[in-house]
Amino acid sequence: MTKHNESWGSRVGLVLAMAGNAVGLGNFLRFPVQAIQNGGGSFIIPYLICFLLMGLPLLFVEWSMGRFGGRFGHHSTPFILDSMSKQRFWKYIGVFGIFTNLAVAAYYCYLESWTLAYIYHSVVGTFSPMDQTQVSSFFDNYTDITTSTTGIPYEAVIFWLLCLFLNTYILSRGLSGGVEKVAKIGMPLLILFGIILAIKAVTLKAGSEGAINDGTVGLEFLWTPDLKSIWNPTVWLAAAGQIFFTLSVGMGSIQCYASYLRSRDDIALNAMSAGWMNEFVEVVLGGSIVISITVGYFGIEGMTNLVSQVGGLGLGFRTLPYLFQQWGPILAVVAGIFWFGLLFFAGITSSLAMGTPFMGFLRDEFGMSREKAAWSFGLFILILGAPAVFFFKQGVFDEFDYWAGTVSLVVFALFEIILFAWVFGMEKGWAEITSGADIKVPRIFKFIIKFITPLLLGAVFIGSLPGIWDKLTADTNGAVIFGRFLLLGVWIGVAVMVYIAYRKRVKEGRFTS
Ligand code: TRP
Repeated sequence: MTKHNESWGSRVGLVLAMAGNAVGLGNFLRFPVQAIQNGGGSFIIPYLICFLLMGLPLLFVEWSMGRFGGRFGHHSTPFILDSMSKQRFWKYIGVFGIFTNLAVAAYYCYLESWTLAYIYHSVVGTFSPMDQTQVSSFFDNYTDITTSTTGIPYEAVIFWLLCLFLNTYILSRGLSGGVEKVAKIGMPLLILFGIILAIKAVTLKAGSEGAINDGTVGLEFLWTPDLKSIWNPTVWLAAAGQIFFTLSVGMGSIQCYASYLRSRDDIALNAMSAGWMNEFVEVVLGGSIVISITVGYFGIEGMTNLVSQVGGLGLGFRTLPYLFQQWGPILAVVAGIFWFGLLFFAGITSSLAMGTPFMGFLRDEFGMSREKAAWSFGLFILILGAPAVFFFKQGVFDEFDYWAGTVSLVVFALFEIILFAWVFGMEKGWAEITSGADIKVPRIFKFIIKFITPLLLGAVFIGSLPGIWDKLTADTNGAVIFGRFLLLGVWIGVAVMVYIAYRKRVKEGRFTS
């Protein structure tokens, strides 16, 4: 079979696409909530340590694994991992790198579609006559697809289908013709919208526009280091989980993007640029908008209570659209467009990244055309996403997020770092990381990748076992159990496809490395 040829158009495009992969809804919706739930200033130290000791090292590892596998024409983790070792089971570990993307995309695209709907409602002024409770219950009505109190019947389903279609269409245009173009437009706009909103948020004045605190009170909450929970494992687990999710490590989408590099292309500087860009967006922009505005209107205690009442997505969708109304009719519309617009760009550049590993796999192994692979992905997400959409209230959405967006990443990252540092070997690994490098990678990373990152990952994994056990033994409803088996089915289904692909390779005499 001929290797499918596809590549990045330019270095700027590549870095923006990779940054777009990382910068997602996690930066603006998940990060502030994790920070609030884990005490603000006591979250930020474990978070930054996890970034340096797990995030950055894993970025180097995943970029170089991807470029390495790409040399043999592999564009998804099963055969990328396979090419790094003689043992055959690694390709089944690689199943995680396709599974996670499919399962996360299934609920992520739904979340992404809300942002489109909320842009629309910001423009037409749906929120302007509403009080706080009404804006909050708008969200319940919206996600309760059987009612149509938002004015459009099945509105949530319509926006969801639209969003799926958009993703599929862009994916069908390829990397340089689709993904890269979206990143080149979306990323700068996102940063621009984010900076404007962040400035507005931190310059809020107590006593004007209905605010009770200065915007800087929220910043102090996040940025006053607090050592009281430094030994609390829950805070560390949350910090590590956030680092994985936000950087998209342990997922397989970075390896896939990197597999389209040329073998002499730099990875060290590119990986650093994309990683630091993500951190800037997350910590500076993501950290100031939601927190400063909410603290400005409700105070720290009010914000913490709000988070425990309305949950993770509450602040972004239930509270901010109401608070924007306090800024007068025009600013309210502008802020709505900026906020949900930046969320949309953040979301789509990530969901596109989730599509590529499965597509790469179908194309490498089954010779599918790009269009066909893209539509297969779209169809798959339509089917797998449906339970998350129709049984949102029953908790299927959260169930997907737990297994695919939290547990699976840690498991996969743990295996891949062992493969890279200990099976493939750190000498070869270091040569991969540094070859073609445009910067000198500090040698300390060789030590970190070999010893520190695997140990920390092991600790995180062991630390999450009690939570996993609790989850499995807790009482729950039929829809959630169904969702759980569905995910298991997807994992097994992908594993069977990998097996078939492997048999096919053997029969055709194609070596895997
Ligand atoms: N990093 C993204 C965010 O912060 C999420 C994401 C991107 C992702 N690519 C992924 C999740 C691949 C799972 C799989 O929102």
